[in-house]
Amino acid sequence: MNLEGKTAYITGGARGIGKAIGLRLARDGAAIGILDLSVEAAATTVSEIQALGVKAAAAAGDITDYEATKAAVAQLQDALGAPDILINNAGIDKAEFFVNTTPDQWAKLIAVNYTGFLNSSHACVPLMIERGGGAIVSLGSDAGRVGNSGEVVYCGTKAAVMASSKALARELARHKIRVNCVAPGPIQTDLLAGLHEAEKGKKIMEAVANMIPMKRIGVPEDVANVVAFLVSEDAGYLTGQVISVDGGLTMIG
Ligand SMILES: NC(=O)c1ccc[n+]([C@@H]2O[C@H](COP(=O)([O-])OP(=O)(O)OC[C@H]3O[C@@H](n4cnc5c(N)ncnc54)[C@H](O)[C@@H]3O)[C@@H](O)[C@H]2O)c1
Repeated sequence: MNLEGKTAYITGGARGIGKAIGLRLARDGAAIGILDLSVEAAATTVSEIQALGVKAAAAAGDITDYEATKAAVAQLQDALGAPDILINNAGIDKAEFFVNTTPDQWAKLIAVNYTGFLNSSHACVPLMIERGGGAIVSLGSDAGRVGNSGEVVYCGTKAAVMASSKALARELARHKIRVNCVAPGPIQTDLLAGLHEAEKGKKIMEAVANMIPMKRIGVPEDVANVVAFLVSEDAGYLTGQVISVDGGLTMIG
């Protein structure tokens, strides 16, 4: 894909899927702005992206905090210019049966996964409208489409991101901004590794890999490749869609 001259902001771009998206969009020629809690990891990722020959910058920020998100976006704008592309990627998860969870845990999941999506979209959309168009891709999840045991609240937050993205796609089409989601199945990242206690997690993942028609857990690059398509001109007539990236695990119609 050719993204030369484009600028992409990625929340949670310091590691995992967000980092793979940053590296991929950079290879396609985009300048990359990373908004992440983790300053150190973000700085390392920025160096790796700059080594590919494109501009990159990081801004520390917590997407659960509206003012902090706006300040971080302003910092990225100073460094790189306004965004053409926004990737709402930052998210958290922890597997636990619903009856064993607490309202504080629900509030944290909702704050990062859904309010964070609202905050970063609200901070960036006016800049994209002013720029005359763009593309937003947000990280939903297969779990938010089919439900997952141990992820009752997480599933709700991801369903909310996917539903709001469709509504946003309708509002922003007139501004030439396309809004889509990817819904990954299990992808090998620190988040996935931290879902369960190590030995139990290994057994669950072996069983899940066996259920996947392609017989493997995904890697961050599997998601990044689809995101690169969705933000490119090749997807110019595609908006309001949710694309599962899961080796055929759910095959939702
Ligand atoms: N890994 C999977 O199996 C999987 C599957 C489906 C969907 N997803 C979604 O993909 C996205 C990325 O997941 P990942 O596996 O790469 O996770 P990860 O934990 O490896 O990376 C998440 C990044 O987000 C940042 N972050 C977390 N909270 C933040 C906050 N409040 N403000 C700013 N940054 C914050 C972290 O510092 C980290 O760099 C998430 O939205 C996740 O829900 C992941």
